Amino acid sequence: MLFPDFRGRRLRASSNFRRMIRETTLSRNDLILPLFAIEGKSVKKPIESMPGHFQLSVDHIVKTAQKANDEGIPAIILFGVPDKKDPLATRAYAPDSIVQKAIYAVKEKVPDISVITDVCLCGYMDHGHCGVVDKGIIDNDASLDLLAKTALSHAKAGADMVAPSDMMDGRVAEIRGLLDDEGYSHIPIMSYAVKYSSAFYGPFRQAAESAPQFGDRKTYQMDPANSNEAIREATMDIEEGADIIMVKPALSYLDIIYRLKEEIDLPIAAYNVSGEYSIMKAGEIMGWVNAREMIMETLLSIKRAGADLILTYSSIDVARELNK
Ligand code: PBG
Repeated sequence: MLFPDFRGRRLRASSNFRRMIRETTLSRNDLILPLFAIEGKSVKKPIESMPGHFQLSVDHIVKTAQKANDEGIPAIILFGVPDKKDPLATRAYAPDSIVQKAIYAVKEKVPDISVITDVCLCGYMDHGHCGVVDKGIIDNDASLDLLAKTALSHAKAGADMVAPSDMMDGRVAEIRGLLDDEGYSHIPIMSYAVKYSSAFYGPFRQAAESAPQFGDRKTYQMDPANSNEAIREATMDIEEGADIIMVKPALSYLDIIYRLKEEIDLPIAAYNVSGEYSIMKAGEIMGWVNAREMIMETLLSIKRAGADLILTYSSIDVARELNK
């Protein structure tokens, strides 16, 4: 049908019509809020590169989790800023370390919100890499046991789901195996299966104090040029027992989200990462853009591409907007 028989504007004429034919909706059910836990009491240390976000001591993590729960957000994902780093990331899996304490406190005080944990070693290693370093090389197989131990320690502290973000080959199987052996077969794994080596992680590395001290992450995170490889990575993690597949970052990789949605049948999560958040916030501070509207539009685009879940630093603001 061509003009003048077809007029696209007819159904755009009123907000009711627009509502009636809207193809994609964003819901608070889609949102996961990332939080950074740090040692101490009453600590709320602004993260300069991520306006509106803080390194939070456990008491503040609980308060923020409560706020998120009050807005109907189903889950938070926790990152830890430990008191000490070493070459074996011992504070990643110590039962009295920061993330473990934060998990326990949130589950005790805000039992209705689900607690997901980022399983990685970079924030706990003195060299800042996501695995064990041997003569300047990131040793894949030597890292698997530490990653699985970390996931298990989170489950023991009460985590509802674990999310490995290290990009070592074989870690999903290793984590699944150990969780099953130790009586945690009910804990799902959300795998950062398709994680690109990205400049968009810059602000996060300040937040988590996890920047690599030498080299970069290109030997384990994916090359932004590749799309077929995303299918291979996702397929491998599904075979190994992943329950949710994540794509990260989100905005430069909407084609990857779309393609995975077509080719795999697990729920897909997308990580609207720190750099994506910070550039919009910076634009807002400069008075150049309407960040609130921009964030709603970008999250909608991530859903339209095919994501079922979105990890976003804007979760609380967005849930408030949706709850109006
Ligand atoms: C840890 C990890 C990173 C992010 C999530 N988990 C950083 C990295 O890989 O360097 C990035 C999240 C963000 O930028 O918001 N490996």
